[in-house]
Amino acid sequence: MAEGATSPVGLVLEPDQIHKRVAEMGAEITRDHAGRSPILVAVLKGSVLFLADLVRSIDLPVRVDFMAISSYGDGGRSGVVRILKDLSDAIEGEDVILVEDIIDTGLTVTYLLTNLRARKPRSLEVCALLDKSVRRIIEVPIRYKGFDIPDEFVIGYGLDHNGRYRNLRSIIGVRDIDALDTDPERIVSPYV
Ligand code: IMP
Ligand code: MG
Repeated sequence: MAEGATSPVGLVLEPDQIHKRVAEMGAEITRDHAGRSPILVAVLKGSVLFLADLVRSIDLPVRVDFMAISSYGDGGRSGVVRILKDLSDAIEGEDVILVEDIIDTGLTVTYLLTNLRARKPRSLEVCALLDKSVRRIIEVPIRYKGFDIPDEFVIGYGLDHNGRYRNLRSIIGVRDIDALDTDPERIVSPYV
């Protein structure tokens, strides 16, 4: 690489690191919820890979459910989201764990927590793989956290850029989004 050029990729979380941490999170959830049957609510689509690994590390009769949302046309700045797909089942009286891929400003998860709390679950906790806390606008109570990450746009292991790169086995922080758009191979090929 030319001298003075910064690498287009910053943070890298390797598959082994991710799987080890997710297994620890599953063990923690198992301990904390002994004797219970929590419902893991995952937010489509980014959280699906995380959820799939997480449930296999939880030794409890867990159930899973899904929500799909989209931000309103303000780029998500209001934190108001539209529910495109709601839960299949009621959560009243249940122990609910909201599973998120990443918490950035915190607006989305705050909206979802308010929405879910209104349905009167017995308990409601947040489990997030990634915490980009430097960008936080609203404080979020994260009960289970995978990794703290710096202010970089991350892709892989479920996280996308324009719908792509969810299938990368690593999570990578892209410092140069233009480079990703113009020459994706150069950036992602070491991490597939
Ligand atoms: P928040 O409302 O700002 O916390 O944003 C949460 C949502 O934005 C996440 O659930 C992701 O879908 C998306 N998001 C935030 N940061 C990233 C990123 O670095 N890569 C991919 N998606 C992201
Ligand atoms: Mg998301």
